[in-house]
Formats: sequence, structure tokens, C-alpha cells
Amino acid sequence: MDNIKLSRRLLAVANFVRDKAVVADIGTDHAYLPAYLVKSGKVDLAVASDINEGPLKKAAETVQKYNLEQNVKLVLSNGLNDVDLNDITDIVIAGMGGELICQIIDNCNELLDSSKNLILQPMTNAAAVRQYLYQKGFKILKEAAVIDDKYTYCIIRSCYYGKSAQTSKFFEYIGKISENTDDESKEYLRRQYIRVMNIAKGLECSKNKKSEALEYYEIAKRISEIINAD
Ligand SMILES: C[S@@+](CC[C@H](N)C(=O)[O-])C[C@H]1O[C@@H](n2cnc3c(N)ncnc32)[C@H](O)[C@@H]1O
Repeated sequence: MDNIKLSRRLLAVANFVRDKAVVADIGTDHAYLPAYLVKSGKVDLAVASDINEGPLKKAAETVQKYNLEQNVKLVLSNGLNDVDLNDITDIVIAGMGGELICQIIDNCNELLDSSKNLILQPMTNAAAVRQYLYQKGFKILKEAAVIDDKYTYCIIRSCYYGKSAQTSKFFEYIGKISENTDDESKEYLRRQYIRVMNIAKGLECSKNKKSEALEYYEIAKRISEIINAD
């Protein structure tokens, strides 16, 4: 049987999982990611977890279809509450809003462990995730950008570092995407530039927040300098 065909977004998430990791996919839905990772030989063991019975039933169907009962364990859990993290090395939280991702991390003290690799893919508010991670003593090791038609996604690799830091608004908008040279990262930066410019223009037109516009124009200028650097 052929391997599962992942979306470009989920494939980029899969690429962030370390070879031979023991992975937990939180909010797994159909369990396509863990099934793909096992079928492709990248990992041998995975936990596919979801808060809802319906998605977990779909996950069970995927596991059964590909004969992965020995490799993919299904767990009903709110975030990481009922996931045994002892042997888990890589934790994926993908396809959820940024605030929910932060909440799930916040509820799990076992993630305060530098050996655990977090792979985060917020659908919204990546800026909040970046800010949260540094504030709570995590650091971002690497990011990737994926452009899927009109949607822009980032994938963040993070681990606990133990020192809290404050992020700038500039960093929160582009994270470590600015370190990449691939076309999708460049497109991510272009779209963030447009987003920040629109915020600046909106503020400039408002009655009370004109002075805040300057900060956003400055961020947009710095993003454009990165885009035009080569
Ligand atoms: C849009 S799907 C994302 C599926 C997959 N991770 C992806 O990226 O394509 C979101 C899934 O997260 C689950 N979910 C929402 N809140 C959750 C929580 N607190 N803990 C675990 N799973 C959750 C939902 O039931 C749903 O199956």
C-alpha cells in the first residue's frame, strides 16, 4: 500500500520531526501525520492524541487501514494531560490557533525539559506563540514557512532553555523565518510586510492611535530591508 499523501503544510511539519524520534501528535484528527511518519520509516513509535472521540475514531480507522496498531498508540486527552511523555522525544501541536497551542504547553510542566523537541504549527497568531515561548523560558531553534495558495503557515521548532526573555514586536512577526533563504520564507516575509503595513496605515487613520503607527512603519521597513537584502 502506498504511503499517505500529506498536505504541503503537514509534510513540512513531518520534516521537523527528528529521525527515529518517539513522537506525540497532539490534536491528531485523522492521525495522518503519525501514520505517515511510521509508514515512511522516519519513526517507529508514535502517540496520536485528540481531545475528541470523533477525531480519535477517524485516527483509529487510519491506524487500522495501514496496519499500524503496533506502532501508533491512540490516546484520548485534553492537550498533554493524559499523554505519558516519559519516552516521547518530539511533540507536535499543529493545526490549532496560537492561543490554544500556548495553553496546551502551559498546562504541561513536563515540557520544561530541554530534551523534548516541540514542533508547533499555529494556524493563527504565530506572533503570540513566539512571544509566549520566550516569556516562558523556551527558545526557538528553527522555523520554516509554507505557502499553500492564499494561506501562509510557519512551523516552529522549540525547546526549553530555562531563561525567560522578552521578544520585540519585530521578532514576533517574523521569528526565525528571516534566517532562511528559500522562496517560501521570502514569500512569508513579503506577506508579513503587507500585514504590518496595513496595521500601520489603519493606525495612522485612527483618531487616538496615530503615534503607534510609527512603530509598525518601522517594523515594516526592517522587514523590507531583509526582503531586499539580496
Ligand atoms: C484542525 S485539526 C488539526 C489536525 C492536524 N493536527 C493537522 O494539523 O492537520 C485540530 C484537532 O485538534 C483537536 N483539539 C482541539 N483542542 C484540543 C486539545 N485541547 N487537546 C487535544 N486536541 C485538541 C481537535 O479535536 C481536532 O481534531
